[in-house]
Amino acid sequence: MWATNLKVVGIVLGTLALYTLIANKIPQVQSEVPQTLTLGANVTPEQLVAAGEKVFNGIGGCPTCHGLGTRAPNLLTDEKGTGPIGARCGKREAGKSCKQYLYESLDNPTAFVVTGYQPIMPVMTRQLSPEQIWSVIAFLESQGGTVDVTGDDVAKAKQLTPGASPANSGGSPGGGAFAAGSTDPKAIIQAAGCLACHKLDGQGQVIAPDLTHVGARRDAESIRKKILDPASSIAKGYEKLAGIMPKTFGTMMSAAQLEALVQYLAGHK
Ligand code: HEC
Ligand code: HEC
Repeated sequence: MWATNLKVVGIVLGTLALYTLIANKIPQVQSEVPQTLTLGANVTPEQLVAAGEKVFNGIGGCPTCHGLGTRAPNLLTDEKGTGPIGARCGKREAGKSCKQYLYESLDNPTAFVVTGYQPIMPVMTRQLSPEQIWSVIAFLESQGGTVDVTGDDVAKAKQLTPGASPANSGGSPGGGAFAAGSTDPKAIIQAAGCLACHKLDGQGQVIAPDLTHVGARRDAESIRKKILDPASSIAKGYEKLAGIMPKTFGTMMSAAQLEALVQYLAGHK
């Protein structure tokens, strides 16, 4: 009886000791990270990587394309013998560091298109905040490489106007609002990157249905639904590409912008 009780106490104490040991280990590991980051920037690489993983799998929607092996290059696993993205990012473009290349991939994806793939990657800096962009870069770097994103990168990016880089500014540089708050449908289409996949009035890519006569196939209601919830109805003949159209437009645009876009497309009979 006593012996059993002692055994139980022994096991409990032993387990507690183990947990205490583990708990003490965690802060020790973290404190090995140099805290040289400047103000607003005392975020650790581990925190950036963890945040980036959530963006990658969540709001970023990256696995929609990256993860099937054929639609887009593998990022988390080996890509044609060149290793995961953190191992190859510094070798893609001469003179560009890994960090610079990854930022370019998200800010101006057509600047360097990986051979063998279509230029369908959306401009992510239009959909994600600077924090989300830089944490996702840290996460990508951690896949076989060295994380050199710092809180400084985040702070600097936040000072710049989102979407105002020369590569993707569609018109007037404005505030943080989507398409600088414009209700001009053309500016909205430009800022949303619809033409990275769709053709409209002879411009754009042919991966997705040509929208030049979309008003003849869908009324305003149906177009609105499609933009807000792309999974709601898949275009005939494009079933294989279901899931490619970004789901984030509804949260990016104001109600007035959405309406201007919907009416413009519905008018394309
Ligand atoms: C609609 C499909 C699609 C989505 C969504 C998408 N990508 Fe891509 N991405 C591609 C394609 C296709 C390529 C290869 C062609 C190119 O370089 O543009 C690519 C290329 C890349 C590259 C360069 C890869 C290399 O081997 O050099 C990176 C980095 C990247 N994407 C990151 C991301 C991240 C991070 C996200 C989510 C925030 C994302 N992508 C979302 C389609 C997509
Ligand atoms: C990354 C590629 C991509 C982007 C960016 C994109 N789409 Fe799409 N879209 C698709 C694909 C693929 C389809 C066909 C499969 C489906 O219905 O989901 C589609 C279908 C549609 C349809 C239905 C067409 C039909 O003939 O029934 C409409 C409307 C549409 N998109 C509007 C838009 C608008 C507006 C934007 C910009 C705000 C946009 N899309 C951005 C890929 C994209």
